[in-house]
Amino acid sequence: MQKDLSDYRKSYEKGELLLANVPENPMELFQKWFYEVDRFFAEDETNAMTVSTIGIDGYPKNRVVLLKKYTYEGFIFYTNYESEKGKAIAQNPNVCLSFFWQGAERQIIIKGNAEKIAENLSDGYFESRPRGSQLGALVSHQSEAIESREFIEDKLQKLEQKYEGKEIPRPEYWGGYIVKPVEIEFWQGRPNRLHDRIRYKLQSDYNWKINRLSP
Ligand SMILES: Cc1cc2nc3c(=O)[nH]c(=O)nc-3n(C[C@H](O)[C@H](O)[C@H](O)COP(=O)(O)O)c2cc1C
Repeated sequence: MQKDLSDYRKSYEKGELLLANVPENPMELFQKWFYEVDRFFAEDETNAMTVSTIGIDGYPKNRVVLLKKYTYEGFIFYTNYESEKGKAIAQNPNVCLSFFWQGAERQIIIKGNAEKIAENLSDGYFESRPRGSQLGALVSHQSEAIESREFIEDKLQKLEQKYEGKEIPRPEYWGGYIVKPVEIEFWQGRPNRLHDRIRYKLQSDYNWKINRLSP
């Protein structure tokens, strides 16, 4: 089987990114882009991002997760600490996040270090989730091989009965990571493949070196 995709191409013409207009702190540019994409480009899940880890098998692996909070400190997502990504991060906290916002022709790539957030913060977020998602976290030993779909559906049913009318506790193996950035690149598609790329590199606390990169 083969399919030639060499004719798939488009011209990117939705915006520009000029060094003269960027803030000193990349989180402020992140906030601006996130707001614009969310507000004007009707992205379905603006907060969906790829997180890449270096696995314990030595291979990099990407998967999509949802960004749940960002601050000047970094980017927070929630997951199972014993999943494949959790095990990878325990061994090597260097990760890469990326966003591709197709409608706005924008990409952001973030290198950083992942660490578990404080337990009370994970508790707070867990409590705010719908019961179905809470039970889902309890049911699923994420990334483990299972014999069938029925296996987890049965488990869910049993847990629904067990916790009927009761508060569902956050499992200790489920919680948030904050990715503290060391490098953030903003990419804006431009015509003729002469895209705008602005990279921030952390020098010391809140001090970022800014460069334009060749497309
Ligand atoms: C749109 C979307 C959002 C997702 N959000 C999350 C999330 O917030 N947390 C999570 O653990 N997995 C999320 N997933 C599932 C992950 O992509 C992945 O399958 C899961 O985390 C297991 O990854 P791992 O086995 O590499 O650890 C999401 C998937 C998609 C497509």
